[in-house]
Amino acid sequence: MVSGTSVSIYLEFLKDKSADLPYLYLLWGSIHCISLSVIGKIFSSYSEVAFGYKGLQILLYYSAGSLSTMFRVHYTSKVDEKFEGVQADDVESKIREIIPPGFCQGTDDFVSLLEKEVNFKPFGPIIHTYTVYSEEAGEEITYQIHKAELTCPGFREYHERLQTFLMWFIETASYIDVDDERWDYFLVFEKYNKDGTTLFATVGYMTVYNYYVYPDKTRPRVSQMLVLPPYQGEGHGAQMLETVHRYYVSSPNILDVTAEDPSENFVRLRDFVLAKLCQNLPCFSPEKLLEGFSQEMVTEAQQKLKINKQHARRIYEILRLRATDMSDPEKSRAYRLEVKKRLVGPYKKNQREMAKMRRCLNPEELTNQMNQIDLKTQHEQLEESYQELVSDYRRTVERLAQA
Ligand SMILES: CC(C)(COP(=O)(O)OP(=O)(O)OC[C@H]1O[C@@H](n2cnc3c(N)ncnc32)[C@H](O)[C@@H]1OP(=O)(O)O)[C@@H](O)C(=O)NCCC(=O)NCCS
Repeated sequence: MVSGTSVSIYLEFLKDKSADLPYLYLLWGSIHCISLSVIGKIFSSYSEVAFGYKGLQILLYYSAGSLSTMFRVHYTSKVDEKFEGVQADDVESKIREIIPPGFCQGTDDFVSLLEKEVNFKPFGPIIHTYTVYSEEAGEEITYQIHKAELTCPGFREYHERLQTFLMWFIETASYIDVDDERWDYFLVFEKYNKDGTTLFATVGYMTVYNYYVYPDKTRPRVSQMLVLPPYQGEGHGAQMLETVHRYYVSSPNILDVTAEDPSENFVRLRDFVLAKLCQNLPCFSPEKLLEGFSQEMVTEAQQKLKINKQHARRIYEILRLRATDMSDPEKSRAYRLEVKKRLVGPYKKNQREMAKMRRCLNPEELTNQMNQIDLKTQHEQLEESYQELVSDYRRTVERLAQA
């Protein structure tokens, strides 16, 4: 009897310039995907097991530029419904639900698509170019950020292939409705040379939704952001976010730039990028920072950098930490009180609710409620939140020092 194949995850990206072919994104494994949550999403009812196969392999390849795709499934054996009365999981159709049609299944077809990679050119105008020194290659590598439009020939189909990576890498990912004209698309490409020809590899991308704000403003909201694994931790996320911010800054009807349901990694990245931008504003000078958070900071951050009040406050706290001598007990205490003054907001609300309860509840009911809102616990929680926050802020300050 052939049993369920437990899911092991294997991902490999080939970036081998000496190879005969252009870069490939090669995604394969004894069975698919990148994280257990993705597997849960694909095989929701049977979670981490694809039932009914022996030696199951899912081969999913993308070319690095155009993301031309090859997909096929291999196995050594599969349950036979006639004899064993059970059906194997339909692995192939589950993957087909995620990847768009038009992929090839044979190696020869895929190799001929790879040969066409030399014709692939990034979509839309370049809005920023930068270089990063690669230890591996021993040279500066050039990257380009493009703003693509759905009207660019071939972009719609490219985007359909690109967004499949969200499914492999982001837990809460879903596809967007590209027919909605309020989406903006930003793409990052590596520019590389092969046998004297210039080729491009997809590095990452961002989608931003332009929300309408009454009466005549727009609030761009970062929806999806992905830097592909071989490129993560090289500063591309920061380059992309900064470029996108700068892009919107020049537009008078933009109110501020926000993000939808930001992940912890994204918040860290945004802290760094916004602090890097704000540190050059006059009202974020060390002297002004030590005088406290001001309306002037809110206005300047909003008008010059399209940063909203909540983010401006956080950046103020980060930059003030950098400007504070934390080894001086008095200065360090002033900083702690300043941050806790903000953090204490929700706790104060709790206290107001408790006072209200004292007036409304009978003694027994009140004791029950009081147990839930213990003041000592609140102080401990506040201190914990403060320590966590300051340790996040310190990382940002360190990154700013290296930038
Ligand atoms: C979150 C994400 C977009 C960040 O992109 P990225 O290109 O890796 O970001 P950066 O390289 O600019 O910064 C990431 C880290 O690399 C470090 N780094 C950047 N350049 C570096 C360099 N040259 N040398 C060493 N470290 C470097 C940064 O300090 C940062 O570290 P930290 O996280 O400890 O602060 C990317 O990790 C990703 O796509 N993750 C999966 C999807 C996701 O979470 N998306 C966001 C919400 S939708």
